[in-house]
Amino acid sequence: MAQSNQTDLPIAEQGPGFLQRLEGISERKRHTLELAHEYMIPNRVETFVGAGVPLVIGKREGYRIWDIDGHELLDLHLNGGTYNLGHRNPDALAALRSALETWDVGNHHFPSEPRALLAEKLARLTPGALHYSVFTASGSEAIDVAIKSARHATGRRKTVSLDSGFHGTGGLSGAAGNDETARYFKSDAPDDFTKVPFNDLDAMEAALSAEDVACVLLETVPATAGFVVPEPGYLEGVKALCERYGTLYAADEVQTGLGRTGKVWAVEHHGIEPDILITGKGLSAGLYPIAAVVMTKEVGAWLKEKGWGYVSTFGGSEIACVVASTALDISTSPESLANATHISEYIGRGLAELQTRHSFLKGVRRTGLVIGLEFDNPMGGLLMSSTLYRHGLWAMFAGFDFSVLQFKPGLLVDEAYCDLALEKLDAALGDVTS
Ligand SMILES: Cc1ncc(COP(=O)(O)O)c(C=O)c1O
Repeated sequence: MAQSNQTDLPIAEQGPGFLQRLEGISERKRHTLELAHEYMIPNRVETFVGAGVPLVIGKREGYRIWDIDGHELLDLHLNGGTYNLGHRNPDALAALRSALETWDVGNHHFPSEPRALLAEKLARLTPGALHYSVFTASGSEAIDVAIKSARHATGRRKTVSLDSGFHGTGGLSGAAGNDETARYFKSDAPDDFTKVPFNDLDAMEAALSAEDVACVLLETVPATAGFVVPEPGYLEGVKALCERYGTLYAADEVQTGLGRTGKVWAVEHHGIEPDILITGKGLSAGLYPIAAVVMTKEVGAWLKEKGWGYVSTFGGSEIACVVASTALDISTSPESLANATHISEYIGRGLAELQTRHSFLKGVRRTGLVIGLEFDNPMGGLLMSSTLYRHGLWAMFAGFDFSVLQFKPGLLVDEAYCDLALEKLDAALGDVTS
């Protein structure tokens, strides 16, 4: 697999005045790009413009987004599942509006009704003995809490994660992911974080056998690596090794949870009851930030001893909790889960048919609605991202493997939406190979 880094795209430098050379764009859009380039993150603006994706998202609704200049796009990126329920989902919006009538961020020191109700709901909806929830404002922060909890519970410092994993860009979460970015900020900690290849049980055992590892932190289907599917028995094997060597199993379900694989949590496909589960992104319904780490009573024992061991002003804000509760209800309903399974099969058939006509579409990695399309070119995912953009579909290449495109339909899409997405994919494949 081509190991790379999301900030390290092979796009030529744009040079001074590159925005002036962009043709046919409105003044409003040019101004936004200029401000973002000047005051925010120049490299990212240059990268997207250089890749032929000068997107500034304006209107958004359901599973569609519109550039502020009007270009309509099917959204198969969904920001990693943040828009699992679609943009501005009407039920989630109604929950938000009603929450605004009564609640605010809340005082994070005190028990709060929306927060307590959400914690109870998460304990009910997560597998095994997961019990306590700690709420945070981002997935990265939740991963940090997960690692700290594992360290305290086991008295060990080390975390083992994947060399192709991504868990956010906080302190511990950043060190647990791609080494290159952590090193760039002098935030890597090689003595405390060991990286192993995916689907390699021998490497995992070698990393755990010294019995000094607090937790294994694993995305159930690694997203930024391009949704590589776990080999049969791999995750089950990791769980068994964890039990043998006294290591906790932390499931990062930030991208794979909330029904996206046809079960509420992807670990359920493997019968795994993790010691720690992290959720985020779609929990917010794309409307109000929230993430959570859910842990067993044993892992969360510190919550009984140290009430202020972790405090976060915005973690579990009351408004977010009301929205998240609605997001959970919709994402975990039998109808939504059945739709995920049905749509996965439906789109899987369409993709298989495309493969018979386009050898460039080399592989389809499909776990429910988390799908990676593998192309017969090391830059194929990147190329398809920009070609599909022109055809009116936004899907993002995999950050650690540019040959792969992440192709992620939403939980509530229907067959007609998939037909349109497949039509656009067919046309883009035709363009790229002609
Ligand atoms: C699998 C996974 N874990 C954790 C995170 C971090 O979440 P956040 O961006 O909310 O900090 C991400 C973000 O993309 C992710 O994909």
